[in-house]
Amino acid sequence: MACEVDTAFIQAPEHRPKPQISDAGGIPTIDLSPLNNHPISPDLVAEVGAACREWGFFQVINHGVPVELRRDVEAAAREFFGQSAEEKGKVRRDEANPLGYYDTENTKNVRDWKEVFDFIVKDVVVIPAEAGSDEVQEIRNRWPEYPPGMSDACKAYARGVEKLAFKLLELIALSLGLAGDRLNGFFSNQTSFLRLNHYPPCPTPHLALGVGRHKDAGGLTVLAQDHVGGLDVKKKSDGEWYRVKPIPDSYIINVGDLVQVWSNERYESAEHRVSVNSKRERFSIPFFFNPAHYTIVAPLEEMTSEENPPKYKPFDWGDFFKTRKNSNFKKLDVENLQI
Ligand code: SIN
Ligand code: FE2
Repeated sequence: MACEVDTAFIQAPEHRPKPQISDAGGIPTIDLSPLNNHPISPDLVAEVGAACREWGFFQVINHGVPVELRRDVEAAAREFFGQSAEEKGKVRRDEANPLGYYDTENTKNVRDWKEVFDFIVKDVVVIPAEAGSDEVQEIRNRWPEYPPGMSDACKAYARGVEKLAFKLLELIALSLGLAGDRLNGFFSNQTSFLRLNHYPPCPTPHLALGVGRHKDAGGLTVLAQDHVGGLDVKKKSDGEWYRVKPIPDSYIINVGDLVQVWSNERYESAEHRVSVNSKRERFSIPFFFNPAHYTIVAPLEEMTSEENPPKYKPFDWGDFFKTRKNSNFKKLDVENLQI
């Protein structure tokens, strides 16, 4: 078979996307406008709970993030990725610092058809020394010269989306029967980061994926996708892939592995992937809402009982976060922590 792409991008036959993936019957859409009223409406909390149980994913509208913030960062992403490989390479990430531009990443050993730019909410994160060493590490944003104002646009956007992430954290806590602020303490000194994704048109969309199937490791993901579409979510109950229908200016929310552990599997982080297409490029911006580096993650006491013992051993989020600095980018595998 003649092949038009580098074999590094080719998915095993069982993981290739089908030519038509339905966006009917997909993840629920939740209107967040009741959040403007106090106290928070029990119906909204119940809706969030049902979406987390059935899908681990939902889409939100009337979310309160000012649209101008998103427009500015979308425009900056287009300008940045539109430059030559040489220009983009000037802010390439390296072994010492994982932030900035890169065009190669593998998911489950197959190369993703994408290029990305990563940045953190604050300009610098200090990683404490390992036990027995006093070496403190710093991870810093790397901003390009062009487009001018990209750092301001990205940081303003990050602050807007972070507010939404805290509201969602409260809704999720309430939906688990917890106090609304029960999970906030974990996020006081976050390791959150944002990613600008660019998926160029792909000559062989039936063989490759923009991002291979995976689950998100952190707390929550708050994703902006453009009008092109391509995000596919696997539904737990039928094992089928559903395309997430683009709704202009909405956000797509999914719970990560940490919520799965905290809730002792009341909610599960769902598998998802990105399909690409031969005609149109696609842009997306995930905000990975992650706790402080020193957070020890384990099923919450309130979520366990004698009849429902903890399903996971405690683990240190910081140990995982540190490994992101290495080029092999080890993924958190909560399955290995199952009791
Ligand atoms: C991801 O899951 O990493 C990316 C999602 C997207 O681009 O829609
Ligand atoms: Fe993801």
